[in-house]
Amino acid sequence: MSTERRLRLPGLAYGGDYNPEQWPEEVWAQDMALMRAAGVTMVSVGIFSWALLEPSQGVYDFSRMDKILELLHDHGIAADLATPTAAPPAWFFRAHPAALPVDRDGRTLSYGSRQTFCPSSPAYRAAALGIAGALAERYADHPAVAMWHVHNEYGCHNAECFCDTSAAAFRNWLRAKYGNDLDALNDAWGTAFWSQWYYDWAEILPPRATGADPNPTHQLDWRRFCSDELLSLFTAERDVLRRAAPAIPATTNFMVMHNFDALDYWRWAPELDVVSNDHYLRSTDPESQIDIALSGDLVRSLAGGRPWLLMEHSTGAVNWQPVNRAKTPGEMRRNALAHVAHGADGIAYFQWRAAKAGAEQWHSAMLPHAGTDSQIWQDVVQLGADLGALAEVRGSTSPARVAIVWDWNARWAMEAPSQPSGALRFQDLVRDWYAPLWKAGVAVDFVRPDAPDLDRYQLVLAPSLYLVDDAGAAGLAAFVEHGGTLAVGFHSGAVDENCHVRLGGYPGAFREILGVHGDELFPLLPGQSLTLAGQIPPGASADLWSERLRLTGAQAVATYADGPLAGVPALTRHTYGSGTAWYLATHPDPATLAAVLQRIRQEAGVRPEREVPDGIEVVRRRGTDADYLFFIDHAGHGAEIPADGIELLTGKPVTGSVTVPEGGVAVVREQVAEARGA
Ligand code: GAL
Repeated sequence: MSTERRLRLPGLAYGGDYNPEQWPEEVWAQDMALMRAAGVTMVSVGIFSWALLEPSQGVYDFSRMDKILELLHDHGIAADLATPTAAPPAWFFRAHPAALPVDRDGRTLSYGSRQTFCPSSPAYRAAALGIAGALAERYADHPAVAMWHVHNEYGCHNAECFCDTSAAAFRNWLRAKYGNDLDALNDAWGTAFWSQWYYDWAEILPPRATGADPNPTHQLDWRRFCSDELLSLFTAERDVLRRAAPAIPATTNFMVMHNFDALDYWRWAPELDVVSNDHYLRSTDPESQIDIALSGDLVRSLAGGRPWLLMEHSTGAVNWQPVNRAKTPGEMRRNALAHVAHGADGIAYFQWRAAKAGAEQWHSAMLPHAGTDSQIWQDVVQLGADLGALAEVRGSTSPARVAIVWDWNARWAMEAPSQPSGALRFQDLVRDWYAPLWKAGVAVDFVRPDAPDLDRYQLVLAPSLYLVDDAGAAGLAAFVEHGGTLAVGFHSGAVDENCHVRLGGYPGAFREILGVHGDELFPLLPGQSLTLAGQIPPGASADLWSERLRLTGAQAVATYADGPLAGVPALTRHTYGSGTAWYLATHPDPATLAAVLQRIRQEAGVRPEREVPDGIEVVRRRGTDADYLFFIDHAGHGAEIPADGIELLTGKPVTGSVTVPEGGVAVVREQVAEARGA
């Protein structure tokens, strides 16, 4: 990530997607006045404006955008100027029908919504770079432009295209990966199986719909290719913008949230000048505050520990779930300030003004259909004031001593078809482990499996690491050897980077560190559960997974008390080098998992940020000469918590303890004894 190209705005940014082209010009002046009233400092413009900016190929109409940028600048509001390439116009597809994407079943999709293009289409790439270049040339020196917003949510609707153009691009990607050596590919993919051997590169296709289960390595390389293909579109646009405007930072909005798994953001993040993320709540998630925290910690980790921007979330309901729930009183404020607590240096919404037409007319916004005579508007104004009061938090970081291993390759491989259990979901398994740490107020970073600097953590958790390469496994082993504590979840270390089973017993790559040997997997059926016994809470149970394990150096901390594996270890602890490695070979109930993780972290010497009552989230951001302690009441009972300093949202001094209002938030600046240096 570039150090020169930073977003240079004072304080925490505040705003949203602004689509004035969807409204008559009379409305724009009102927008400006209301943005000022709400404390908005930056808006994203032009995200879906391609058809208006380029009415026909190579013919541009910048008249509207000129006025919008002028208006924003006159009102002291910065522009995050988008390249509109997520929504190619109809004229483009009429001229280039081959750029339409084809799905796995061979169906060509039609234009008429957005993000319906083939990522490998040369015509699309040329057109996207054309409009990006024209915008860059026109606005590179415009004083309103603070950042480039490249495209929108890459891969949201078109992460995969199975057309012939994509097939050719996939083959090129494979040739580069395997050094043009088809035997190397055949070996990596295990194509001796089911007569899949390839004699000619031209025989290789995307994993289109076929009669039986696909080849796992073919699938995995395909997912890697799809992520890289979109990344190359991003970097191509970014480079066009950079050439014209070398000092303006570029971002694109990630989607680190439930269920979106198309892109390997560890590969993407270093290409961005500013990392930004979109996060929406799932109406059916009863603990969505945990999802916010998890995604915030992951995005901050992707950003290399530096602050990031929340580019989109919603003030109220969205419009794309089966039933779209509104937020409860105070929830919008808690959500936004939780993102700040987890490292966001700016908060933005989709979108500024609620649409009256189009597919998102029932999506909430900062300025709702009801206008300013609305609860949401009051909350928006309040949040603007809150962010103003928290301006000094900008730039502060996180002091986590616990890391959770997160890997998109492991996720893709484990969730592919023909696994021992089709019920394993990577993000759910990680969240199971993250939740008790969050509840206990323990700060967490996320790391890639081959992170070079694990030694700065006391505890590393790998809740779900089905796939790990030798470098990743060696890094984790070295961490334990040097005195760290590692805890590994079931079905980890099972395969290498080519999805080949690691032979000789489970959990393959980690057998030696964990001091165990498994010889057979016993996944549980839906509804089936087992009882656990040992040094764990009475009545402990487990579901989803078990395996027949014997000890080869580890001690059993808990065993199965019933079922076919009665007496077999389910939780083990092993001293390895100067460290300790735990293996949790099953999926315990949440209370048991919380107790297990509490013991593990206590033995590792990891303490919570502060003892807080249930339902209060506590997060620390670390500044140069002060720490910022965020207390967020998700339970609605309020709390009195030991603290000293200044409560920034009210500006009041805090002596001995701070009051967290019911359903509210307190942020205490605690002075540190000595400045830490930048
Ligand atoms: C995002 C998208 C926005 C808007 C929003 C609605 O995925 O980037 O343009 O559609 O969802 O929730």
